Amino acid sequence: MTTNGSDYDVVVVGGGAVGLAAAWNAARRGRSVLVLEQYELFTQRGSSGGAERQWRLQYSEEDLARLTLEAQPLWRELEEAGGRRLVHHTGSLWFGDTTEATNEGMISDAAKVLERIGVTHEWLTAREIQDRFPFAALPDHYEGFYQPDGGIADVKGTLWLLHEQARLAGVTVLEHAKVEEIAPDADGVTVRSGRGVHRGQHVIIAAGPFAKPLLAPLGIELDVHLFQMTSASFRLRDPGLDLPTWFAFQKPTEEDTNLFYGFGRNPWSGSDVVRAGPDFEDHVVEDPYLADNAAVPRHLERLTEWVGAHMPALDPEPELAGSFLAALPADPERQFYLGHAPAHVPNAERLVIFSTGWGFKFVPLLGRACAELALDGRTGFDLGRFGLV
Ligand code: BEZ
Repeated sequence: MTTNGSDYDVVVVGGGAVGLAAAWNAARRGRSVLVLEQYELFTQRGSSGGAERQWRLQYSEEDLARLTLEAQPLWRELEEAGGRRLVHHTGSLWFGDTTEATNEGMISDAAKVLERIGVTHEWLTAREIQDRFPFAALPDHYEGFYQPDGGIADVKGTLWLLHEQARLAGVTVLEHAKVEEIAPDADGVTVRSGRGVHRGQHVIIAAGPFAKPLLAPLGIELDVHLFQMTSASFRLRDPGLDLPTWFAFQKPTEEDTNLFYGFGRNPWSGSDVVRAGPDFEDHVVEDPYLADNAAVPRHLERLTEWVGAHMPALDPEPELAGSFLAALPADPERQFYLGHAPAHVPNAERLVIFSTGWGFKFVPLLGRACAELALDGRTGFDLGRFGLV
């Protein structure tokens, strides 16, 4: 298809990590691509905010663990394209109540999956964990494993590099272009934004927590749980110390999930300040446009209490605290939504939808899958569990 300035082969709605990865993948296949971002690139208001994300191979579900293995070479490819490391293998430590089922999975099931697919990991008792890593006063029955390939993904570096590669491949980005309407027809899709009317052969909707209101007028009901997640930064008392990324699986309390997670030093900054957070989902947000970046006081209090009790290497007084908007499918089995629009939507094959979930570790794979679904009508990745119905 030829473009006349407002017609594109692919219009991508959302300039976060998955949107930029999709745009880059479509553009390097020679297609004309427009990205519409409602705020500005690198905004903190969507799902691609913050500095880092946990990167891990372990999942309780074998297909998801295999998908992380498939994502690995795609990360390498992106890193090589930009000459910059994005995933740092600082190791991943999971510990706690090993049979507790959580929104992140279950330690014992994930260890079985690692065993089955032949991924190295080391099983550790509470004593061994405390001897090797800077955690203390863990209940005696806690156990877990260390997986050395896990680690930390550089969010800002990834966004910057994806944008750079997309720009070099010819992608046009419009910022402050909030999409008001998406109307597919037999010949293409009309997208109306705050910056004008655009036309695409295909539209990839990668709008994170903002997808639900965008899709409702098309008759697509995303069953999404939206909430604000608090986290805070703590100073390492000893400049010689570091941590792997970690996740503490614990039995829930009456009020919350009682799960905590955190990171070591960001290898790209080497800072003495590390981030930790409670993985609590109870600060629900009805309207994504009304979310703020403020810490939830009760969550911050629980976090500082946990850090004070179990992480003597950290000064328990947080240096910085805030929150970000998280969105998960209401059914935790789903992890995220990815696929063509459901069949009841007229011309559904013209719309590819990615929304919500713990997706950062899959970003280059999700971008490739979105572009394949749009341009080829199918993808070779096993994404059946994420489809929209
Ligand atoms: C993260 O990578 O930011 C993250 C990991 C586990 C739970 C919540 C957030």
